[in-house]
Amino acid sequence: MAIRINKKNKEFHLYNDQVSYIFRVLEKCGQLEQVYYGKKVHHRSSFKHLIEREPHTASCNMFEHDDTSSLEFIKQEYPSYGTTDFRSPAYAIINRNGSHVTNFQYIGYRLFQGKRKLTQLPATYVEEYSEADTLEITLYDYVLQAKLIVSYTIYNRRNVITRHVTFVNEGRESFYIDTAMSASVDFPDDVYEMVYLNGAWGREAHIQTVPLAKGVQSIASARGASSHQFNPFLALKRPETTEHSGEVYGFSLVYSGNFLAQAEVDSFHTTRVMLGINPFQFKWKLAQGEIFQTPECVMVYSDRGLNGMSQTYHDLYRKRLVRGYWRDQNRPILINNWEATYFNFTEDSILKIAKEAQRLGIELFVLDDGWFGKRNNAKSSLGDWYVNKEKLPNGIKGLSEKITALGMKFGLWFEPEMVCKDSRLYERHPDWVLSTPNRPMSHGRNQYVLDFSREEVVETIFNLMCKVIDDAQISYIKWDMNRNITEAYSLGLSNKRQGELFHRYILGVYKLYEKLIERFPEILFESCASGGGRFDPGLLYYAPQTWTSDDTDAIERLYIQYGTSLVYPINSMGSHVSAVPNHQIGRITPLETRANVAYFGTFGYELDVTTLSDTEKQQVKQQIEFFKKKSRLISTGTFYRLVNPKDNDHSAWMIVSENQNEAIVGYYRILVKPNDGYRRIKLDGLHPNKRYAVSGKEGHYYGSELMNIGLILNNNHDVRNKQKPKDFSSELFIITEIH
Ligand code: DGJ
Repeated sequence: MAIRINKKNKEFHLYNDQVSYIFRVLEKCGQLEQVYYGKKVHHRSSFKHLIEREPHTASCNMFEHDDTSSLEFIKQEYPSYGTTDFRSPAYAIINRNGSHVTNFQYIGYRLFQGKRKLTQLPATYVEEYSEADTLEITLYDYVLQAKLIVSYTIYNRRNVITRHVTFVNEGRESFYIDTAMSASVDFPDDVYEMVYLNGAWGREAHIQTVPLAKGVQSIASARGASSHQFNPFLALKRPETTEHSGEVYGFSLVYSGNFLAQAEVDSFHTTRVMLGINPFQFKWKLAQGEIFQTPECVMVYSDRGLNGMSQTYHDLYRKRLVRGYWRDQNRPILINNWEATYFNFTEDSILKIAKEAQRLGIELFVLDDGWFGKRNNAKSSLGDWYVNKEKLPNGIKGLSEKITALGMKFGLWFEPEMVCKDSRLYERHPDWVLSTPNRPMSHGRNQYVLDFSREEVVETIFNLMCKVIDDAQISYIKWDMNRNITEAYSLGLSNKRQGELFHRYILGVYKLYEKLIERFPEILFESCASGGGRFDPGLLYYAPQTWTSDDTDAIERLYIQYGTSLVYPINSMGSHVSAVPNHQIGRITPLETRANVAYFGTFGYELDVTTLSDTEKQQVKQQIEFFKKKSRLISTGTFYRLVNPKDNDHSAWMIVSENQNEAIVGYYRILVKPNDGYRRIKLDGLHPNKRYAVSGKEGHYYGSELMNIGLILNNNHDVRNKQKPKDFSSELFIITEIH
């Protein structure tokens, strides 16, 4: 058991070899006090000696004759509003009388091996009971007659604790949940930097690192999707923490909708971190007998730097979040026709690309947007999931059969959540669109958002999609989503329940995914939202890979993939080689560099391979052969970020096999300098005592040399040496153990 309980003092210690998490019940008020979270400490029968209590001038106190009972000075686990703590609460409830004050008090706990599923929500899981232990703390509010269950799971062999809460209305009257965070942790000091991912379309997931300041610092989405702008993740790291060493606490929310992640530093240098559904535009009516469960927050503590945190997330999300047939399989090398043809294709032109792709060794052909209704541009037809016979006279069935006959798999694009005004679906059901009555309706890319909070909408789209899939030979689906929600209002919900819409919408998305996966368990799903507008753990539960960004420029991708790797496994990141000049940014990069970046993801191509020269085709063929040989290592190895492109004119990362007998280093020159000095890159993750051969270099190197002295790069750009690197050049180093 990794959870020890002192029943008398009501203390709880969750621990494994790496991490300790200690909290207790406050004697008088019955709320939960946070005692310690961090590197494993010795278990003791009681941790009472760690309790800090002193009177504080100008504080409000809960109990008479007790000037130490101010919750403002007590570190907490799931803080409430309105009773002496003036910081942000983890939850807020509106009572029937309009008051926001609650009094949830501890009534008991449940401890069990394993981990239970969440209702309707994605979450990490276990395969054996012995992998994790779960503790559920129940608090009760006697006025509301409601339960609050705070759940914790600790994985025995991972530095991971997951949290979520459940509200149960056991009374006769309804109340409203106004805020319900998934987790809240109070840290005793504020000497941290907050690390998070920020971006926009075409430049997602750039790493931001800012020192904590007094007050609230937060990232959030109110767009109806986790967003391009901010990822549902934040970390607190010590200022001295690097990629390779030092303490860091990661918080990742398994959710795809509106979220809030914040760190609040009070005037007493306590830091409160919380993550959950964004309280803005959220209000959930909980009627008699109803239950509300928050999404899961996955907390990782690492004392091995940011790479240590990321590796924990990668392994957990790869093995215990992603599910199903594709979880442990090598993903097929795909070619997507989007950048090759956009909307302008016929069966013939598609088959030409597919045939060439097959000759080059590509395994899966993906037909993107434009195959349905009368969609020849982005103005019409979303919602009409019937094939366009003018473009594809033999239907998706005919095309998929022809592609399958080539020896390739076939994949298809859908954008299930959207509708265009110019569509049969909209003509029939204009009321299925999210819009506020008597107000103008904004569009995004000429499309409108279907009301996925309504069951009949989800059911209709499911049936339309099934018809297409049942009829053809489809092995892969790209599920796109290209706009955020405006004028949020559902005609399917009463006015009192409009605050539930954003969450119910995402539950509808999850439901459709679940239904499709159940019906087609062997289809590989790739989620997409104009690139990485919904790259989050929630969707990874359903779709094992995500289109990381519409930006396929190799140099911009360095920043995007470097940042995305903070949380997400390499084999979840869709990454393709595309044409130059790059369609998003106009940059010209060598074909070699485009592949050297795209290898570190789910590798594929997104260009018209028929237009390549013979030399380029030969190069592509070799790239594919190389990736096939290395794909196991790339998808299952341990990923290390080595040099951040953000502050440098070069960048590097590497993957090491589990048994440390093989590694691949990707090294990228962004801009070269004249008359540059020598450069070395210190590698990581190798076995110090093993001897390795390094491709392109003579002799052998000990792991200890490569990690401590570094890999010496002969990369001065000099006119007398034509082989030396140019702007946007790159090199892969294959490192192999010598026996
Ligand atoms: C946005 C996606 O990110 C692209 O890859 C492509 O599928 C287009 N949508 C199609 O409309």
